Amino acid sequence: MSFPKGFLWGGATAANQIEGAYDVDGKGLSVTDITTSGSLEAPRYLTYKLNGELGKVPAMPGAGLPEGAEGAIDPNSYYPNHVAIDFYHYYKEDIKMFADMGFTTFRLSIAWTRIFPKGDEEKPNQAGLDFYRKVFEECKKYGIEPIVTISHYEDPLYLSEKYNDWQDRTMIDMYVKYAKALFEEYKGLVKYWLTFNEINSTLLMLSAFGNNVTDDATFQHAYQKLHYQFLASAKAVKLAHEIDPNYVVGNMICGILDYPMTPDPKDVLATRYAMEQTVLYCGDVQAKGEYPTYSKRLWDEHNVHLDITEEDKKILKEGKVDIYTFSYYMSNVITTHEVKDKVGGNFAAGAKNPYLDYSEWGWATDPTGLQYYLEVMYDRYQIPMMVVENGLGAVDKIGEDGKIHDDYRIDYLAQHIAAMGKAVDDGVDLIAYTTWGPIDLVSAGTGQMSKRYGFIYVDRDDEGKGSLKRMPKDSFYWYKKVIASNGEDL
Ligand code: BG6
Repeated sequence: MSFPKGFLWGGATAANQIEGAYDVDGKGLSVTDITTSGSLEAPRYLTYKLNGELGKVPAMPGAGLPEGAEGAIDPNSYYPNHVAIDFYHYYKEDIKMFADMGFTTFRLSIAWTRIFPKGDEEKPNQAGLDFYRKVFEECKKYGIEPIVTISHYEDPLYLSEKYNDWQDRTMIDMYVKYAKALFEEYKGLVKYWLTFNEINSTLLMLSAFGNNVTDDATFQHAYQKLHYQFLASAKAVKLAHEIDPNYVVGNMICGILDYPMTPDPKDVLATRYAMEQTVLYCGDVQAKGEYPTYSKRLWDEHNVHLDITEEDKKILKEGKVDIYTFSYYMSNVITTHEVKDKVGGNFAAGAKNPYLDYSEWGWATDPTGLQYYLEVMYDRYQIPMMVVENGLGAVDKIGEDGKIHDDYRIDYLAQHIAAMGKAVDDGVDLIAYTTWGPIDLVSAGTGQMSKRYGFIYVDRDDEGKGSLKRMPKDSFYWYKKVIASNGEDL
């Protein structure tokens, strides 16, 4: 197995899951700032104020506040991302540790609300721009190429309330203004941009993971939101190329692979339909520049009527992404039959795959699925690919020797890197791999710190206690060796 020379190795994070400092240097509130913590069993909540009273709604799926409600912070609730791991102040130390591992790339996101605090300002917030400039300069110092996600689950709260979570075209203009500010500001410092993190999660949340949302209004909302996001993404791609022809812009898809539980043709068809709705729909529009034929079926199923114009179709065509990037954690099983052995845990549900092992959070470890996904998607889109998230969320215990021996994480990652190597050998043009959470961070799904992904341990718990001190785990030294050998020494 041979990864190409210059292959990018690193890790991936998101602003709201690491930075903390949620209200400093002019930053505005984002939707994640009003999201409380959760647990394996309990969902996270969005907190709001309605008629002077505080209330809360489950943060997923289709996170949105009741009509008339405004996001608020409840002094009696805990918001893990308000401090997170305080990357805002620790970034130099953290990037140095990434450099020690030999990272050649670091995927991070920009908090929209640091740049445009409410979202509708004319001019960007200089302090926000300065922060990321310092971060990128720190990366450059070590030869680390940033991969920057423009929007990672952290819309400005003000815009989200005003435009009801992307139900208005004004959102497109707001996003493009924000993207333009970034493209102009970081010319020469950044090369790779990703427009929306896991853009397909809007649909995925409705039908997967045990949620069985069926009402037409929710689907109408989801497809319309996506249409406006596709336009925002396409406009950003075009603009990026105009500002700097060296910019490379990608989409970012939550890559969950579905398998049929039985050879019953009905299961096979149901599996294809599930993949189309939850994964392929978004990738097809962003990489091929037009809606796929099966869109009509998907819309008709839920009486969806899109606000879409001829001009929109032209924009989508002109704004195809340069690269296809995705996260990969697990596969799922689809069936039309009764399910006896079910998967439990956050975000995973449905039939259990007897051939796979499951994490404590119910996610199936399936490296072969990664190889399959890479080969099929590369064949479909024929553009360079990046695996921009992959990892094992696990509880880490500090051993008697004061160290963390996370061989389970090493094992998980080694299997997935080997699977990527096979796909590369089969001809897939894979150019980067960034593991999720190279340093422990706040879980997006549960708000827990105890669901750890890092090579670097951070002393902070689910209640926000701890010194924030950083410490390498065994996997830190292992990944260093992997990078030094360009993926040979696993
Ligand atoms: C992806 C997201 O869905 O998975 C990340 O892009 C997230 O933001 C990651 O953190 C892992 O999920 P979780 O729920 O374990 O944090």
